[in-house]
Amino acid sequence: MTHAIAGGRRCATEQPGRADITDRRDILELLRDFYARAFHDDVLGPVFVDVAKMDLGVHLPVICDFWETVLLHTGGYRRNTLSPHQRLHARAALTSAHFARWLGLWMATIDDRYPGPTAELAKLQGSRMAGAMSRRITGTGELGGGSHGPAEAVAALPNLRSWSQVQRAPLCPR
Ligand code: HEM
Repeated sequence: MTHAIAGGRRCATEQPGRADITDRRDILELLRDFYARAFHDDVLGPVFVDVAKMDLGVHLPVICDFWETVLLHTGGYRRNTLSPHQRLHARAALTSAHFARWLGLWMATIDDRYPGPTAELAKLQGSRMAGAMSRRITGTGELGGGSHGPAEAVAALPNLRSWSQVQRAPLCPR
């Protein structure tokens, strides 16, 4: 069964053989797929591989804590998400194109793997945080929806003035 969301985009809520994000293992699988794409991406790959030399063995559990807190309300992540990206920006000169690509890959990976309300929440919060992070770091928060982005969900977001407001904002729009 599908239902329409604002803007005419259809959102799968039930598909045979596919289930929503329900636990940490689902999030880990999503993140492994996302970073495999990001590491091979022509825009993001050089940042992750050559500049950050990101070690997924170290970072994946932390980023998984972050998404588990955002999506499943486990509360295990209590760090400042912005500052490592500000440090990265000092070395790699991130642009809104990097954040737009991050968002496009995030949306595409979720769409390819998971249907349902928690998957939609992951896309909504990814849009919200990528926009806010880009605004703080590059001065431009308008990332568009990307080819996979729910532009209507981004447009419906509150006008967040600051990063701390994003982190304080209710995590679940339902
Ligand atoms: C241009 C886009 C982005 C790039 C290139 C990027 C890259 C990175 C890198 C290299 C790290 C490891 C930093 C370190 O050395 O500690 C990191 C950590 C992280 N990223 Fe991103 N990132 C991007 C966007 C985002 C967005 C939009 C989010 C949230 C929706 C996010 C969430 C995180 C989290 C939670 C961590 C772990 C931070 C911590 O140590 O607590 N990233 N990112």
